[in-house]
Amino acid sequence: MNSAKAIPMLLGLLWGAVLAVPAQAVDLAAGKDKYKVCAGCHGPTGLGNAALGYPQLAGKEASYVAEQLRAFKSGRRESATMQAMVTGLSESDIDNVAAYVATLR
Ligand code: HEC
Repeated sequence: MNSAKAIPMLLGLLWGAVLAVPAQAVDLAAGKDKYKVCAGCHGPTGLGNAALGYPQLAGKEASYVAEQLRAFKSGRRESATMQAMVTGLSESDIDNVAAYVATLR
């Protein structure tokens, strides 16, 4: 293959990579579905329950929520309760549920 052909091909590959990013966009519907179990403690609208020690999630940024979920999962942030909640979540589940939480007001 000569370079006159290789360059457009490389550009094509790069462009393909750029286009692939939106395919990983968060899935709010899937996040809402995952949130069903969370609602038991954090409430359907994310207000939490201060008396029981369940923090409010409504109003928190998706990036913050995702970061906390990953911290619970890795054990960097300790909470036996939350650790049990996140062990079954995949990376995309975390992004989806965090994005959904960010819609709660
Ligand atoms: C059995 C009750 C319970 C369930 C169910 C539950 N949580 Fe929690 N969650 C807690 C408690 C308790 C804490 C406080 C942990 C700590 O800091 O010690 C917490 C903390 C958090 C935090 C950190 C909040 C902050 O201000 O830093 C996030 C984010 C969170 N939960 C998200 C979720 C998500 C998402 C789900 C569902 C996948 C979920 N929780 C399910 C009890 C629960």
